Amino acid sequence: MITNQRWTPESWRTKPVAQSPVYRDRAALADAERQLAGYPPLVFAGEARKLKQALGKAAGGGAFLLQGGDCAESFGEHSADNIRDFFRVFLQMAVVMTFAAASPIVKVGRVAGQFAKPRSSDFETIDGVTLPAYRGDIVNDIEFTAQAREPDPRRQLEAYRQSAATLNLLRAFATGGYANLENVHRWMLGFVNDSPQSERYQEVADRITETLGFMRAIGLDAEAHPELRATDFYTSHEALLLGYEQAMTRLDSTSGDYYATSGHMIWIGDRTRQLGGAHVEYCRGLKNPIGLKCGPSLNPDELLRLIEVLDPQREPGRLTLICRFGADKIDAALPPLLRAAKREGLTLLWVSDPMHGNTIKTSSGFKTRPTERIAQEVRNFFAICRAEGVYAGGIHLEMTGKNVTECTGGARAISEADLHDRYHTYCDPRLNAEQSIEMAFMVADLLKAQRLAQPERPVRAAE
Ligand code: PEP
Ligand code: CO
Repeated sequence: MITNQRWTPESWRTKPVAQSPVYRDRAALADAERQLAGYPPLVFAGEARKLKQALGKAAGGGAFLLQGGDCAESFGEHSADNIRDFFRVFLQMAVVMTFAAASPIVKVGRVAGQFAKPRSSDFETIDGVTLPAYRGDIVNDIEFTAQAREPDPRRQLEAYRQSAATLNLLRAFATGGYANLENVHRWMLGFVNDSPQSERYQEVADRITETLGFMRAIGLDAEAHPELRATDFYTSHEALLLGYEQAMTRLDSTSGDYYATSGHMIWIGDRTRQLGGAHVEYCRGLKNPIGLKCGPSLNPDELLRLIEVLDPQREPGRLTLICRFGADKIDAALPPLLRAAKREGLTLLWVSDPMHGNTIKTSSGFKTRPTERIAQEVRNFFAICRAEGVYAGGIHLEMTGKNVTECTGGARAISEADLHDRYHTYCDPRLNAEQSIEMAFMVADLLKAQRLAQPERPVRAAE
């Protein structure tokens, strides 16, 4: 049994490693990993603990997780503008959802480290030429030449540098006044005015305006209350490239525990969650919050065994189950998992990723995701959770702050013919800024319904 064996940051190396690039220059790889191991951590153990606490609250029904960002960050798209636009949209979504849920939204970006990608095939063939598949900018380059596709360990150092710079700007935005609630609301009103579907959003927007007016009237303004100017924002990515992750693993001197310091939360992908595999082995020994992608091939027994390995102490907030079945599969796949966990008395954080099970290819060769199917999977997720008596605890999206044309539909009805216009993703199609905020309004309605359906929490009267 895996759990009886001693864990070390490198014990994963004795297990089968799925989705691993083949580095020809072993000396260069060892050199990059040695350098990384000496670099400062990107995040701190105390922050990861704070996130775990917030996720634990979400698992118990007292908060909701919003997790989102690029499918794959890229070196080419790294700019202050992109980071700012992403953060701005993310905050607008969070405000709309906070208001509807009347509870905290835990904000976690797929950002500052989301560089490594699993692929369905190790190779790609175009016009009779076969080359290694693109595995994300941390591994190789997307250009289709033999040189570009050769895995290059020095790219790991560039991924670290970019993650540090991104995180630095995000920390400044989150704490330096940019996240001011009044600002965020003003941006959101701009979105509502510009949207072809503005009447659908107006009522919620008006109610937030009124609430802020009331708060101001009683002296709760950003001048007097710094918490209205700042927010907690966390980072996450798929822990796929384990050599990099190991090099970024640190022993926390306060607790004596090991933490991944490449991001606050890391997750195990749907293709690398084998029991007995290297990715599960690496993650089990860390104290960070861990995500586990749950796809249609995961059966209830396997899920329970993974929970046993990854969360043996049943720690609140330790494990987030990120469900990505597809709108047409969720009805059959999710209930057995929820029931199995419930039978064991487990309180876990269940989250919907409505992106990865709803990817299709158009006749002109674009990978896209119809927003109607994305929305349908989210609605089904909430309905199933409600029917099973489980709290729907979060949403996981691939999104960007730019107005790209990668997913079809939305208020501006992007069609398959429009996709070529601004199709910029390095991997999977993302919701654009407007589609993301529209999604937040839809989730807000579902959150409100969930809140109203929950039994009132007892008011501790006359204490
Ligand atoms: C992803 O989140 O980009 C991803 C590859 O997801 P999954 O492991 O669920 O397929
Ligand atoms: Co993706």
